[in-house]
Amino acid sequence: MTTTGMNELEANLASLTARFRDAVSNASDARALDDVRVAFLGRSGAVTEVRKGIGKLPPPERPGAGKVINEAVQALEGELTAALARVERAALNASLEDTIDVTFPGPPANTGAIHPVRRVAIDVARYFTRHGFAVVLGPEIETDANNFDALNIPPDHPAREGLDSFYLRPDLVLRTHTSPMQVRSMRKHGPPIAIIVPGKAYRRDAIDARHLYMFHQVEGLMVGRGIHFGHLKGMLVGMLRDLFGPSADVRFRPSFFPFTEPSAEVDVKCPACAGTGVVQLRDANGSAEVQCRTCGGSGWIEIGGSGMVHPNVLRSVGYDPDAVTGWAFGCGLERIAMKRHDINDIRAFIENAPGFAEGLA
Ligand code: DAH
Repeated sequence: MTTTGMNELEANLASLTARFRDAVSNASDARALDDVRVAFLGRSGAVTEVRKGIGKLPPPERPGAGKVINEAVQALEGELTAALARVERAALNASLEDTIDVTFPGPPANTGAIHPVRRVAIDVARYFTRHGFAVVLGPEIETDANNFDALNIPPDHPAREGLDSFYLRPDLVLRTHTSPMQVRSMRKHGPPIAIIVPGKAYRRDAIDARHLYMFHQVEGLMVGRGIHFGHLKGMLVGMLRDLFGPSADVRFRPSFFPFTEPSAEVDVKCPACAGTGVVQLRDANGSAEVQCRTCGGSGWIEIGGSGMVHPNVLRSVGYDPDAVTGWAFGCGLERIAMKRHDINDIRAFIENAPGFAEGLA
């Protein structure tokens, strides 16, 4: 049997619980929930008021009443914790909704790209290594003996003047081409030899859209018994079709280099105008025929020099020109990269503009 006092206490507890739930559901953030906790469960909160009713009960009922109240307090604390988790989750969701649209396309990743000059060097190297050539690298500081004399370039040749070359000492230059590696390689290895040499070369050129003081070349050399001009043509046509596509047309023009005889300049038919020298320009005002920018209207692009290794060069490295013959070529990598990507200013390669290499793909 319960007393009126106990009934009253339970009624108070029930009404407190109802008010508590109201207050909790009206609280929209953690701070408001804490206010609710203080008002109901705090030291001088509503529950403490109800607890005071225990003293008015007959002593035998007091432990029971205390237990009822403690259980109620525990339940209310549980509801408070759950409510706190709820408002915190809601606050997080709201903050995400404000700032992140997960369906919005993200910014492209900055992945970087291989520099176009290196790309050409890699492609040329792949082509030649597929055909059994070795890739060798040489020093950029050369003796003038290797850079000039051994290559049959006489002392009075204009290239030997300080005006064209960077001399570090009377007998040392920054190599003006990769050709001295022909000399170094042949001195090191007896024939037969088949190498390519990618690398930097230096010339005292004034900088403009077509010239830098430093640029890249790739040199090729093959020497052995019975090597003839047909081998040179076959390898260079193959290389240029590898670089410019299988239908690239290649021509050899008679030329002169001190270290080859006969010598030829190698051209590839302009990929931009298909050798016609003109392109159709279409814009809002209609269409017009204009000179092709890629080849300057000539229909052909000069790739580099080549020829049969001069007997004097073979002699200077200790090879016997009566026993072996060979071919060589040298071409500029920037030139090829410019034609490939329609870059019309060589300075772009060293300006390090952000996105330059990525934009070419
Ligand atoms: N060394 C020459 C230059 O820098 C290019 C060259 C021409 C290299 C003919 C060769 C060659 O190996 O046979 O202009």
